[in-house]
This record gives sequence, structure tokens and C-alpha cells, in this order.
Amino acid sequence: MRMTVIGTGYLGATHAACMAELGHEVLGVDVDAAKIEALQAGKVPFFEPGLPEVLERNIEAGRLSFTTEYTEAAEFAKVHFLGVGTPQRHGSYAADMTYVKAVITDLVPKLTGENLILGKSTVPVGTAAELQDMANELAPAGTTVEIAWNPEFLREGYAVKDTITPDRIVLGVQDGGRAEEVAREIYAQPLAGGTPFITTDLQTAELVKVSANAFLATKISFINAVSEICEIAGADVTQLADAIGYDDRIGRKFLGAGLGFGGGCLPKDIRAFMARAGELGADQALTFLREVDAINMRRRDRVVDLAKASFAGSLLGHRVTVLGCAFKPNSDDVRDSPALSVAGSLSLAGAAVTVYDPEGMANAKKVFPTLNYAPDCESALRDAELVILATEWKEFKELDPAAAGELVSRRHIIDGRNVLDVEAWQTAGWTLDALGRSL
Ligand SMILES: NC(=O)c1ccc[n+]([C@@H]2O[C@H](COP(=O)([O-])OP(=O)(O)OC[C@H]3O[C@@H](n4cnc5c(N)ncnc54)[C@H](O)[C@@H]3O)[C@@H](O)[C@H]2O)c1
Repeated sequence: MRMTVIGTGYLGATHAACMAELGHEVLGVDVDAAKIEALQAGKVPFFEPGLPEVLERNIEAGRLSFTTEYTEAAEFAKVHFLGVGTPQRHGSYAADMTYVKAVITDLVPKLTGENLILGKSTVPVGTAAELQDMANELAPAGTTVEIAWNPEFLREGYAVKDTITPDRIVLGVQDGGRAEEVAREIYAQPLAGGTPFITTDLQTAELVKVSANAFLATKISFINAVSEICEIAGADVTQLADAIGYDDRIGRKFLGAGLGFGGGCLPKDIRAFMARAGELGADQALTFLREVDAINMRRRDRVVDLAKASFAGSLLGHRVTVLGCAFKPNSDDVRDSPALSVAGSLSLAGAAVTVYDPEGMANAKKVFPTLNYAPDCESALRDAELVILATEWKEFKELDPAAAGELVSRRHIIDGRNVLDVEAWQTAGWTLDALGRSL
């Protein structure tokens, strides 16, 4: 099938390449000319394991190309995926819908015949219906545009696998439309492989996505709230999480106590969900998410406080190395990254901060150009008086405490992700602080 994917960021570039991998003819569309140029040259402008190979293979096979031109998009296909950003609106909790609306405004007047727009962006409930009204007004005479919503659940770091073999496909449709039929054809391969397919109305589909993210955020903040109690009571949150995680109604996943969540999705999605609930007159329903957000942000402060405490209260002039600046491992995404937030706070409190991350530094430099960025882990550790493990990259989890100890000037580490072997590090002469544990 021929289709376009509009917005070729983390979601859209992955979706475009993976739809081509499924055998479709795909045109990726973005307003960012540099991004389109890179993609057309077979270069993924962000870090996503496995994606460069899929991109190159499908460009070479002639199934995948890219453009900045909406006219070309309108001529290319009758099925359009919409995957542009929905960031937090400046000065508000609500989602900024400018980009989503711009797609409708720019695309629809150029369409002819019968068209389907499948929304993938994470949007406030009610958006698809609003976009349908907009499209009806903007469509040229004789042109029809059907809007359906097909929320995306991919995880950065596993985006290719999550797109080609998703754990479920959700589709919000309107009565009498043909979206389900088209989606079944597009996703024939994963559906044949047994992927559950949930067809529902537009508003349920929109809400599925934000509810899933709100639940995940709540689970992380739950264990981090318990972590605060563990710190005071002298308990160990990692053992506690193991113990409660054996209950399969609870499960161990997303019970990793530590620096908390960040990235381009969870923080802005829970805030947009609260904002939308308020607009709908149901703000009380989601006030707990305010607490989820606050618990999450307190973990960052806690790490900064532990760092201060390790220097008797003042960070002024002390050399601190922060390992990690991406919001999670296997990603270069630093949007709302807890690691980068900690590094920035330490720097503002007077510390001489050095950061190292295997993939995230180019993006981090744009946000915090004043931090010192080391070319590798070894240089980052050299002469450090305090090390903070802030993103749980494999390289950091597998650090040899004895070898690392030879590099630093003081053996003190804060494990912000509870991933280090405490005994091994202590045996190698390190003082180790961790969140939710008294060590
Ligand atoms: N990143 C993820 O892991 C993920 C997962 C699931 C859902 N989502 C959702 O997907 C959406 C996109 O997220 P992302 O992380 O890919 O964001 P992103 O910022 O990486 O990408 C958005 C892209 O849209 C482009 N764009 C903006 N306006 C445009 C326009 N008018 N026409 C064409 N392109 C335009 C931007 O240039 C950018 O390349 C968001 O709603 C997000 O919540 C993201």
C-alpha cells in the first residue's frame, strides 16, 4: 500500500522505515529540511538501535523516500499517518496542538479523492473529532477525509521491534468509515503473527494512550514514594520491589526505584492528561497525577542533596562526574532527562560538572552547553571527587569498581538507578549511596 508518514521524528522516522519494511511504499514528510536531507541520505538523525539498517535497506529497495513538500505528499498517497510532536505548551500543562493542526491545515486543501488520516501522535481526548471538523471545512469539493486514531506505544531503544511486532494495535474509528479495513491491510503481517487488534471509538483510542502512560508514570512514582520512606526507615527499596513484584497482580517491571522518569512522553503526557481533565470539568479525577509528577521531581532533588551532603553541604568548586545524560539507556533523547536535570542543578550549585553519555551528549550540549562533556567514560572519571550514575547504560552497570577507583580522586559514587553491585563497589573501597537504601 502507498502511504505517507507526516512528522519524521523519533516516532515518525521509525514508523516510516518500518512500514516500508512491511512491504509498503512510504513517503516520509517533515518541515525540518535538515532532517529530511539526512533521512533521504540513509542517516537516522537520532540514536535508535537497528533503525539505520532498516532505513538504508528500504531506501535502497525503492520503497522509502522523504520530502518536505505537502503537495508531493498529497499526490503520493490516499493514506496518511500523522506523527508530529505534541510537546507541553509553554507556560501551561496542556499539550501544544499547533503542529498537529498545521498538518491538517497544510495537507487537506491539497488532497483529492477519498483520503484517510491515521493519527499516531499522543493527543488530548477529543482531538480526532476536532480535526475531523477542521478537515471537513478545508477539504476541496469532491474530496473526502476520514480521520481515525492509531496511538503509538513504541519504546525508544526498542522502537523497531515495537513497530514491526507491537504488543497490541489500537484503532479508534468512526461509524461507516473504512479505517479498520485499511489498517488491517497495513498491519497484515503483525496481525497474522497474533498481535491483538482493538478497534474502538476515537475518544477511547486517544485515552488508551494517555492512560497507559499515566499508569506507567504512577507505577514508577509509587515505588519512588516508598523509596522515600525506606530511606528514613532504614529499609531497602530494591528488596521490597523484588518481594512485591513476585505478586503477578503487581509485577516487577517499572518498579525500579531511582531517579525517576523523563523523556519526551511521560512527563508531558501526564500533565496534558490533567489539563484535559480540567477542561472537561473532571480535574479531581486526576489530581493524583500532580503527586506522581511531584514525587518524580523530588528524586532529582534528593540526588542533588546527597551530592551536597557528600561535600559537607557545599558543592562549590567540587569535581562531580555525571554518568549519563540521556533520559534512559539506548536512547540519545535528553528531553526532560532526569540525568541532565541533575547535572544542570549541580552545576548551578557551583560544582564543576563533567558529563559522559554514550549517545546523548550532542543533544545535551544544545540544552546545557556550559557543562563539561568528556569524550569517554575513562576521561570522565579521571580526578572526580564524586561520581553519579544517572542513566543505566550497560557500560556504566558493568564498570569495574577497582579500575574506576584508580581513576577518581575520591571513591564516592551515588547510584541513581540502583544498578550497581553494592558489595563489589564497597569491597573496592567505594562509599556508595543509593536511592531508597541505607548502605
Ligand atoms: N518518542 C516516542 O517514544 C513516542 C512514543 C509514542 C508516542 N509518541 C508521540 O508521538 C508524537 C511525536 O513524538 P516524537 O518523539 O517523534 O517527536 P519529535 O519531536 O522527535 O518529532 C516530531 C517531528 O514532527 C515534525 N513536525 C512538526 N511540525 C510539522 C508539520 N507541520 N509537518 C510535518 N512535520 C512536522 C518535527 O520537525 C519533528 O521532526 C508525540 O505526540 C509523542 O507524544 C512518541
